[in-house]
Amino acid sequence: MKITKICCIGAGYVGGPTMAVIAQKCPHIQVTVVDLNEQRIADWNDPNPENIPIYEPGLSEIVAEARGRNLFFSTDVDKAIDEAQMIFISVNTPTKTYGKGKGMAADLKYIELCARQIARVAKQNKIVVEKSTLPVRTAEAIKSILDNTGNGVQFQILSNPEFLAEGTAVTDLLNPDRILIGGDTTEEGEEAINALVDVYSNWVSRDRILTTNVWSSELSKLTANAFLAQRISSINAMSELCEKTGADVNEVARAIGMDSRIGPKFLKASVGFGGSCFQKDILNLVYIAKSYGLNEVADYWEQVIIMNDHQKRRFSNKIVQTLYNTVADKKITFLGWAFKKDTNDTRESAAIYVADDLINEQAKISVFDPKVSKNKMLNDLDYLETRISQENIDALSVFENAYEACKGAHAIAILTEWDEFTTYDWKKIYDSMHKPAFVFDGRNILNAKQLESIGFVYNGIGS
Ligand code: NAD
Ligand code: UDX
Repeated sequence: MKITKICCIGAGYVGGPTMAVIAQKCPHIQVTVVDLNEQRIADWNDPNPENIPIYEPGLSEIVAEARGRNLFFSTDVDKAIDEAQMIFISVNTPTKTYGKGKGMAADLKYIELCARQIARVAKQNKIVVEKSTLPVRTAEAIKSILDNTGNGVQFQILSNPEFLAEGTAVTDLLNPDRILIGGDTTEEGEEAINALVDVYSNWVSRDRILTTNVWSSELSKLTANAFLAQRISSINAMSELCEKTGADVNEVARAIGMDSRIGPKFLKASVGFGGSCFQKDILNLVYIAKSYGLNEVADYWEQVIIMNDHQKRRFSNKIVQTLYNTVADKKITFLGWAFKKDTNDTRESAAIYVADDLINEQAKISVFDPKVSKNKMLNDLDYLETRISQENIDALSVFENAYEACKGAHAIAILTEWDEFTTYDWKKIYDSMHKPAFVFDGRNILNAKQLESIGFVYNGIGS
């Protein structure tokens, strides 16, 4: 089957960039991205491509090129489903906040709604592609809904997990390490797999397109995220030991990373990993293992999260202890709020948890982040529900400029590794602060020696 019309349900951090790149690379395919969120779609359609709702380097240029040509953003979900031969489901699959599996399992209600809507609308055979990250064997449930509530048309379900990382989404999509496609081993299943392989082959070489059965594909996504997060928790565990022993975690990471079996990537000690994926996907993995009675497997992976929570708490404790065991009414400036650089996404950012701890200690937090608005920060804090909103509003001030944010501060905490932080005039910042002036570098991006020569008391992670 030659695909000429694609629909993607979910115009978020995955659906938006992924479909923009497919549209750019496949001008012969009409790509329509749909979402229930009217504001989000309006933002994707903003005449100025700089105002699209997701900040990713290089994305606005691609949207500018393809939008209106073969890339469309719409709230008319039924129409897009009806017209497309291939439908990507790219909706959110957050951790459940209620009922069975609360706090662990993935909430599949949005997935189920999509499946029911596709079943209701589809009058011709469709290929349904799971782009969202899903528990292993979800395709079975989707197939059952489609077959039992549909209009008698045939559905093929493919699993095609997305491996892009935020902040590098465009380069990851243009030049992926691999594309993974899982499908049925039947003749129809293979036909569907080939149809999706053909789409990607427009810019990805065939030897990077891996095909497997559906269950392997679904589980590979959870496994990849678990392995990546595990490396961070492993180096973060070592960072605490380094602080006790005089070893330097950056030196340890370099030394072990040169072992070709270990490799140098993802060994950066930090205040803890954030983002919408790692925690959610590992909790989901733990839940799945437990539901099969595999308690040792579950405990093994849960430790990655326990270590990450410990690392965030350890960072805020260290700030309090170093500031003479009290931060009440002290101004602590956060540089960075996003969960990593080059994104405006703040989901599960370590900054939220550190701020929450320090506000509980009655500190005043001032923040500068190049891409995150005050409203978003307040929503993040309110989401934790540790106190009423007004207290967060009183405790948090947000600045458009780092120098202003640092004026009169007792300490600076680096929460995101934005490149611009390394280019600042740190002497000027030092002169504007209370003394002794402390820096807590949660990303190990600043030059400790240089800061110490200015007069700062510098605290990195793991040294
Ligand atoms: P997101 O919250 O940014 O976007 C999801 C969108 O789906 C929202 O705009 C929401 O309004 C929309 N939606 C929900 N239900 C809908 C429905 N029934 N009809 C129409 N629209 C609906 O989420 P995201 O970050 O793009 O993640 C989507 C999926 O991709 C998740 O399963 C996630 O685990 C996975 N994933 C995310 C990343 C990442 O870096 N963010 C990377 C790989 C995989
Ligand atoms: C992750 C996966 O990398 C990606 O493949 C998947 O599709 C989605 O989840 P993302 O969460 O967007 O991507 O960013 P990632 O680069 O993995 O960073 C996640 C968190 O780990 C960030 O908070 C980052 O700062 C932190 N991190 C990363 C470290 O603390 N140390 C490292 O060495 C690497």
